[in-house]
Amino acid sequence: MAFDIEMIKKVYASIGERVNKAKEVTGKPLTLAEKILYSHLYEGNPSESFKRGESYVDFAPDRIACQDATAQMALLQFMQAGKSKVAVPTTVHCDHLIQAKIGAASDLQSALNSSNEVFNFLESVSNKYGIGFWKPGAGIIHQVVLENYAFPGGMMIGTDSHTVNAGGLGMVAVGVGGADAVDVMAGMAWELKFPKLIGVKLTGKLNGWASPKDVILKVAGILTVKGGTGAIVEYFGDGAKSMSCTGKGTICNMGAEIGATTSTFGYDESMERYLRATGRSEVADLANGVKEHLTGDDEVYANPEQYFDQVIEINLSELEPHVNGPFTPDLATPISEMAAKAAKNDWPTKVEWGLIGSCTNSSYEDISRAASIAEQALVKGLKPAAEFGINPGSEQVRFTVERDGFLNTFEKLGTKIFTNACGPCIGQWDRAGADKKEKNTIVHSFNRNFSKRADGNPNTHAFVTSPEMVAAIAISGNLGFNPITDTLTNDKGEQVKLDPPTGWELPEKGFDVEDPGYLEPAEDGSGVQIKVSPDSKRLQLLEPFAPWDGKNITGAKLLIKAKGKCTTDHISMAGPWLRFRGHLDNIANNTLTGAVNAFNDETDKVKSQLDGTYAGVPDTQRAYKAAGVPTIVVGDHNYGEGSSREHAAMQPRHLGVKAVLVKSFARIHETNLKKQGMLALTFANEADYDKIQEADTFDFVDLTEFAPGKQLTIVAKHEDGSSDTIKVNHTYNAGQIGWFKAGSALNLIKLQNNS
Ligand code: F3S
Repeated sequence: MAFDIEMIKKVYASIGERVNKAKEVTGKPLTLAEKILYSHLYEGNPSESFKRGESYVDFAPDRIACQDATAQMALLQFMQAGKSKVAVPTTVHCDHLIQAKIGAASDLQSALNSSNEVFNFLESVSNKYGIGFWKPGAGIIHQVVLENYAFPGGMMIGTDSHTVNAGGLGMVAVGVGGADAVDVMAGMAWELKFPKLIGVKLTGKLNGWASPKDVILKVAGILTVKGGTGAIVEYFGDGAKSMSCTGKGTICNMGAEIGATTSTFGYDESMERYLRATGRSEVADLANGVKEHLTGDDEVYANPEQYFDQVIEINLSELEPHVNGPFTPDLATPISEMAAKAAKNDWPTKVEWGLIGSCTNSSYEDISRAASIAEQALVKGLKPAAEFGINPGSEQVRFTVERDGFLNTFEKLGTKIFTNACGPCIGQWDRAGADKKEKNTIVHSFNRNFSKRADGNPNTHAFVTSPEMVAAIAISGNLGFNPITDTLTNDKGEQVKLDPPTGWELPEKGFDVEDPGYLEPAEDGSGVQIKVSPDSKRLQLLEPFAPWDGKNITGAKLLIKAKGKCTTDHISMAGPWLRFRGHLDNIANNTLTGAVNAFNDETDKVKSQLDGTYAGVPDTQRAYKAAGVPTIVVGDHNYGEGSSREHAAMQPRHLGVKAVLVKSFARIHETNLKKQGMLALTFANEADYDKIQEADTFDFVDLTEFAPGKQLTIVAKHEDGSSDTIKVNHTYNAGQIGWFKAGSALNLIKLQNNS
């Protein structure tokens, strides 16, 4: 599986010097998060103190991980960079495109039948460019990363929001959009606003039914889905040390549900045990050599209020199992209060499914603890009232829990063992009759429970809890069942009680696996051919965007003046469009179809200035492009907020939109537009938004003098012959103006490679 030991040695060789330098420039002891951030500056040694929540900083991550849905466009773009290999160790994991329906073998075959061209494409690109490839069925990206690649003190980025899971092994691991990943693959810096810091002090020790999942379910209740925004959450204290490494992973994983940039834990013995159990004793030995730099300073943890922006304290000894939901992961309810709360809110208490797994909770420890509850059901004569499904997190976990008899225990209860993949967690669940289902309840050990996420049915009330609680609640079939106090009636009519779960942090006989599902890339990939059928509906090789012609843009028509919220979902919808993520021209057929037209308050209905008719945005724009007419998009505040997907910038660019002029941008989208060679502009005077009329034509006056910090001027000519001169601002630096001139950031990299 080739974790890159040389890279890890390099990180540890410089960490001491960089951390000490960071202490010097900041003049204070450091948290672990700061140590990792300051030791991964793109410029090398720290030379200044950054302002949390304000400074934009260039970082040099150690690793990249991509999942199959997002990797398609990321790799298609990387192919444009003209590099022969990725600049940092990278892996691709096929886990999102596999449906859960009948059971692992048959479901995997269906996925191979329906998405084989995508898998083959990802495999051949990986082989060519030195990227490790994890085949469909090998496991879920974050579990596989934790088992093979994560290392204490490292920094990684991944094209999936739960990349943060690797914080369980002491990393700063952040979910990013494909464009950011491509930059780093091509050797460029990764920019991040220096995060704020939230400290969570854990005291006491988990006991009984409480598990690491309950820590994050409680934290989510305290901080809510927005409370971690722009911050790194750092866990510390004796309670932190008492938990397993995979349990820490669970906690960090769901940091995404509180909006945190990432979460992390200091290096400790649980991490050392996990590294050794997963065949990485060499990494553990190296980490032991630089231990003091892989955790926050004692002074920081002794006086956390002084060094963190916010501090939360949780006593694990008093923590009660939680069940969060429905519809949002921060609606936290201790199990003792659930029966009353469900009755009050009219939540259906009959539980129909219990699902265990996902990247959040599919470790050996998770499955062994849940199996101990399943075993009790068998021994005590309890027949599960709900159906059970399990998605193991990796083939290594699946193989080992099968060897140790846990899967067999579940199978005796009629459990469906699905593929080692995301499955129901990402809506890839063909649940029988889901479309017709009335209000119903499921419990799962995943991270997200938004409406429609698991089975596509808005009536399904999904509740998030630990795997052992999923097992207990599904056996009882009652959402309000509290295994600590309640009894169940067995097949003899007796009242029986479930004992608290027992399990193993790590397998006593060690992990085992026959075929982990990994393909090492070719040493020299220059001869590898990448085949994409020109008839493919799912994949399309990218053509470089045309460079700027050096002239002012004139005669540009208004495509749409978007009103109010216009997120990346409005610009490039998700849902059924997921299947076209690797085909720019096909996915462009959803461009801006969710944006509200300010002139008629309708979506996907704009006036064409070519013939005066109203039609959908993509068709109207395609007609402008065919006629050689440039266009611009006008928008409101915080344009492009939401997911960081680069498609929202690539699609308008592909369709021929030249500029996006708004009151304000969400920063990531603004950067994505710049990277794709678009003009991302803001009104110098916000009120000028109101001057834009439906049939306006725009002339740029001074684009030929495009320079950092210099306003640009646009004349908006109205249908009645009048006009307004509009001053617009931009945030392009010299390098980014270079992207615009070259046609895209990747074009520029390619030019630089060839020069
Ligand atoms: Fe997959 Fe769900 Fe995790 S979609 S990566 S299992 S959050």
